[in-house]
Amino acid sequence: MNRLLAELRETQAAGVDVISLLRGEPDFPTPAGIVAAAEQSLRAGRTQYPNNQGDPELRRAVAERLSVDHGLQYSPEREVLITDGATLGFAAAVAALLNPGDSALVPEPCYDAYLPALRLMGVEPIAVPGEYVEGRFQLSPAQVAGRIRPGTRALVLNSPWNPAGTVFTRSELAGLVSVAEAANLWILSDEIYEAVTYGGEVVSTAAVSPAARERTVILNSFSKTYAMTGWRLGFCAGPEAAIRAMLLSLQQSSRGPALFVQDAGTAALRGPRTDVDAMRQEYARRRARVVESLQAIPGVRCPPPEGGFFALVDVRGISTDDEAIRRSLLREDGVAVAPGSAYGPAAAGFLRVSFAAGGDALDRGLDRLAAGLTRLGSAPR
Ligand SMILES: Cc1ncc(COP(=O)(O)O)c(C=O)c1O
Repeated sequence: MNRLLAELRETQAAGVDVISLLRGEPDFPTPAGIVAAAEQSLRAGRTQYPNNQGDPELRRAVAERLSVDHGLQYSPEREVLITDGATLGFAAAVAALLNPGDSALVPEPCYDAYLPALRLMGVEPIAVPGEYVEGRFQLSPAQVAGRIRPGTRALVLNSPWNPAGTVFTRSELAGLVSVAEAANLWILSDEIYEAVTYGGEVVSTAAVSPAARERTVILNSFSKTYAMTGWRLGFCAGPEAAIRAMLLSLQQSSRGPALFVQDAGTAALRGPRTDVDAMRQEYARRRARVVESLQAIPGVRCPPPEGGFFALVDVRGISTDDEAIRRSLLREDGVAVAPGSAYGPAAAGFLRVSFAAGGDALDRGLDRLAAGLTRLGSAPR
């Protein structure tokens, strides 16, 4: 993604007018009530070192939400950790639970930032290619089990799944949990898109069974749900021993987000859900617009994503060389999208189109995408 963003900036610097449909950054401002809570906290002088595990009130608010949203019970004192975004939650889980030389199963197409975070800790990622069945990426338990080697200690799950758009059902999760149980794997469950879904049940991996809860660390964040990407605030929940080890690791890097940021997080979790609902409705409108626009192009399939704000567009009817397609779209049509192969070979022949930002830019970006894909589809091969 950094490579794509650098190329986008270079192209723009060269004078080309480019619309970017690359990033997973909501274009909504952080809801006013959350900003007001940060302001109030600052004025009240909440500027000291935070409790390293996270402000106790925020941890209680996290536990309350997990109970309301998923029926999960976590002790705010022992089983919840506040982090600087899910990025640091993931890094802390890898540092605390895995050892150099271990390996971790990573479903593909895979959110690209997992891989360097694993490698930095000496953990080898093992790709588990998703299967594209009737317009939906799936993960078969047998496929996952077949990739396990001696030294494999974790399974990374991300539901709703970036960039695939799949939201795993309870029974799909149960199948994956059984594999983890049989091989005694930790499950690192990144649930950052849980609020961006379009109907259907959203199940937390830990809620599948008591056995699932015992081996799952939930990684979540305020970035997407509350349009708070720049606040760098996230939370984890898991068994006491895991959270304790993660805290020890985090104490050597971050000692927690600023207190006034955490107070804003407490306000977000306990506040009215109207802003979250309004954002979800707007994402649903954008999703419909993206699907309608792209589905109409010959050689292109754009099944609606079940969750998240990315469409994974199947352009294999035009060419399997998604890198060449995205380069041509950037240079000839002035629209930037990510090639599926950037998320692993399982998504070669796909393009990832973000609708995290909407408005005129999305409309014009989609028009350019449609023009470019139509041109590429009708070019002699
Ligand atoms: C699947 C996934 N996990 C984690 C993150 C990073 O989250 P945070 O902003 O909380 O660090 C992202 C951001 O795009 C993401 O898509």
